[in-house]
Amino acid sequence: MFSRRKFVRNATAIPLALKSLSQQNDLQFLKMERYDQDVTRDEDFWHLVKQAYTVSPTLVNLNNGGVCPQPKVVQDAVERYNKLSNETPSYYMWRILDKGRETIRERLAALGGCSSEEIAINRNASEALETVIFGLRLKAGDEVVLTKQDYPNMINAWKQREHRDGIVLKWIDLDLPSEDKKAIVDAYTNGFSDRTKVVHITHVINWIGQVIPVPEIASVARERNIEVVIDAAHSFAHLDYKIPDLGGDYLGTSLHKWLCAPFGSGMLWVKKEKIKNLYPLFGASDPEDESIRKFENLGTRSFAIEQAIGQAVDFHLMLGAKRKFDRLHYLKNYWMDQLEDEESVEFFTSRNPDFAGAIGFFNIKHITASKVGSMLLEKNIHVIPIQWEHFSGLRVTPNVYTLTTDLDRFVAGVKEIIDMDN
Ligand SMILES: Cc1ncc(COP(=O)(O)O)c(C=O)c1O
Repeated sequence: MFSRRKFVRNATAIPLALKSLSQQNDLQFLKMERYDQDVTRDEDFWHLVKQAYTVSPTLVNLNNGGVCPQPKVVQDAVERYNKLSNETPSYYMWRILDKGRETIRERLAALGGCSSEEIAINRNASEALETVIFGLRLKAGDEVVLTKQDYPNMINAWKQREHRDGIVLKWIDLDLPSEDKKAIVDAYTNGFSDRTKVVHITHVINWIGQVIPVPEIASVARERNIEVVIDAAHSFAHLDYKIPDLGGDYLGTSLHKWLCAPFGSGMLWVKKEKIKNLYPLFGASDPEDESIRKFENLGTRSFAIEQAIGQAVDFHLMLGAKRKFDRLHYLKNYWMDQLEDEESVEFFTSRNPDFAGAIGFFNIKHITASKVGSMLLEKNIHVIPIQWEHFSGLRVTPNVYTLTTDLDRFVAGVKEIIDMDN
């Protein structure tokens, strides 16, 4: 009988020219064969996933929280569409590739579990969320609730509105990490007043990976007629959820993070009935148009990048949202478990899947995070030191191409640093 597993094991016998093609097929086989199985700890499976990427075999990249690499199929698609565009840009970009945008919109909507009439394609989470922040009809004295732990670009955009329009920013200082949903929800809702018009929520706090209970906060906001803006830069295609289930009105995300789409791709979701009153960031012929496409007047942009989002969606669907989340969460806990007994190590991320996914944050007492970061880099391990509000330490973010052996190298590196310090 034809054994797919054996086929995979014998992959080295496949002539080189066919190998990269077969690796894609191997993944499909493995997926079909193991669709109902839990592959979270199956390193064979994830080793094949790694082969679909072109990541460095020497540098262990544990800063996927910054930006994620693309699988080779996505990189190839960008190159292909770019070459096609360059044959006759105005024809191939505007008459041929442009037609593909509607399909990409539908595919992203299917991924997000919403209507394609609610999805605008743009370049990143900053652009998506600033469209909302600058597009909302707020007047002097209107209050916006947000946290000191939100992302700097978004904080700056809100501050600019405060400066320009006299809106009032109500800052929450979250006590994180936390596994107390009620305490987090209360922290937001205690900031609500009769003048609150908007609450800005970062779904996954980028610094330490804390998941914020958006549906619970949104439910209170809805009762009080407060609009909900969701920064999903770190949750989309990472946590397993559908956009409408979050209960928000507006959501922005980058696709070059967890979807592993081309660099410079993003998405804005606006609840259908909210589109009319939200001004586009780039002027449209009718700013009160009810079509989501009014948010796409970006001028000339890369059609190659936009179209190759399709290949990234395919890749994500092949892995499966739940399997991807389970693996990412497992990897985070894998390294945390191994450093658990180190007295000098402090963690700032939950191990509970309701409160964290792939992103983990730690600190070594008595050694500065930047020093630890530099020492790990000397060992070819890339993590990112962070100093923001109450958080001081290093963020560690694996991805689907990360193997437990990569994490073993990281853990060994941290232990060596601790031993040197003792
Ligand atoms: C929480 C959060 N929001 C927004 C952004 C902005 O993403 P981009 O630079 O892709 O616009 C980031 C980037 O890291 C982020 O972590």
